[in-house]
Amino acid sequence: KILILDFGSQYTQLIGRRIRELNVYCEIHPYNHYPALDASVKGVILSGSPFSVHQDNALIPDLTPFEGKMPILGVCYGAQYLCHSNGGKVEPSDTREYGRAMLNVAASHSPLFAGVSERSQVWMSHGDTITEIPANFELIASTETVKNAAFKISGENTFGIQFHPEVYHTTEGTQMLKNFVVDICGCSQDWTPDSFIESTVKELKVQLGNDKVVLGLSGGVDSTVAGVLLQRAIGDNLTCIFVNNGLLRKNEFESVLDQYKGMKLNVIGVDATEHFLNDLKGVREPEKKRKIIGRDFIEVFDKEAHKIEDVKWLAQGTIYPDVIESVSVNGPSATIKSHHNVGGLPETMKLKVVEPLRLLFKDEVRRVGKSLGISQDLLGRHPFPGPGLGVRILGDVTAEKVRILQDADHIFIEGLRTWGLYDSIWQAGTILLPVKSVGVMGDERTYENTIALRAVHSTDGMTADWVHLPYDFMAQISNDIINKVRGVNRVVYDISSKPPATIEWE
Ligand code: XMP
Repeated sequence: KILILDFGSQYTQLIGRRIRELNVYCEIHPYNHYPALDASVKGVILSGSPFSVHQDNALIPDLTPFEGKMPILGVCYGAQYLCHSNGGKVEPSDTREYGRAMLNVAASHSPLFAGVSERSQVWMSHGDTITEIPANFELIASTETVKNAAFKISGENTFGIQFHPEVYHTTEGTQMLKNFVVDICGCSQDWTPDSFIESTVKELKVQLGNDKVVLGLSGGVDSTVAGVLLQRAIGDNLTCIFVNNGLLRKNEFESVLDQYKGMKLNVIGVDATEHFLNDLKGVREPEKKRKIIGRDFIEVFDKEAHKIEDVKWLAQGTIYPDVIESVSVNGPSATIKSHHNVGGLPETMKLKVVEPLRLLFKDEVRRVGKSLGISQDLLGRHPFPGPGLGVRILGDVTAEKVRILQDADHIFIEGLRTWGLYDSIWQAGTILLPVKSVGVMGDERTYENTIALRAVHSTDGMTADWVHLPYDFMAQISNDIINKVRGVNRVVYDISSKPPATIEWE
């Protein structure tokens, strides 16, 4: 495997994904806090960073465990650090070094650039630049403005590149990463969905033995894939609980339960609509609503799980981005994101936790799901927040408002499917605004609700951009919603990106 040491760059996870796409296994760890090296580690990548090597609080890694002992690739800050720490010069650059550049590898015989075009487009994004490389460094490529764009340390398999091979705009970046991980480090490309399934099922069998496990299913991709993997490993010792919090999409509880039929997941469907809606009565404050929904979920889940005799484990669909400790930009200390897929652990249950997907990125979860034979319908579903429509009904939640929003959402989502737009959009939904406005229907004056449509492109939900939906499509959806959903007389479209807005309105 490849070890990626994180210095806090926004692109670190992307390096990991690119390498995984080559079917090579890699792990991301903070630059100053990683597991002891063993024979399975074939090479190390040093990521970029928002820091400069000259800052007082610059991030200083200890490279002695691997420098000269195995291949190293420094990317951006990683390259600058290699230079700086070996006696080269890194200085703030006076020309703009952001964006596309042409890398000239014509004269380079470096294995890092094997199979790469003589002039190759790369993406630069850095404030400091390497003005002088140490005497024992060989220059292996330059661009017009960045002379020291790539180097190698003589007598070592240590490389540094000033540009970002992981981003889309470095057109042959994947080839360069492949050259490094496969040819230079000698990793084999056998990290595939099938090999993951085989080894995970084997490990789960050992870890869980004959113990009973409970899993909260949400109808989403992660919990479903986790469920099927566990089912393969422990069969009937798995019980799944699917809670209807009354804030799901129209008919979702029934249709998802239906989809789970035949998957042998021992699904218990619990309709707790009243429990949730009662507790939410009159509550307007968004955080308070979220807390109530989270707490109620635990109560319902806990009660149901207690009915399973002798249950020892709680399974969760946590995925890799939630597990990676990231180096914080606000300081060199590592912070850990805490995230619970289903709103929090039932702590009173004293269950051990098993997370079969904790090493996978989202796209890998989908690939594994496909290999497991899960339907495309389930795997291709848009993300949906745990608190459901509760955070899309602004202000207090009532059964009538849920009904209005479910109907509007249904028209929008089905419309996206009919128009062939659903799969190209990352997430979409409708929001019920706490705004009434005047309209006219027939000869009658109306005074009714406003629905906002939201559709975004994103890769991980951290940033997002609104989708430029076709006008004809929006015209039809607006018409359908206003004509068919009782209580709505106005439809608007949300054209805010994240940041500064968020995807959900609450
Ligand atoms: P925001 O609104 O923060 O949402 O831009 C980013 C992504 O996260 C989803 N989301 C949640 N998912 N529990 C979840 O499982 C939650 O409490 C939650 N809140 C937001 C949101 O739908 C979007 O995909």
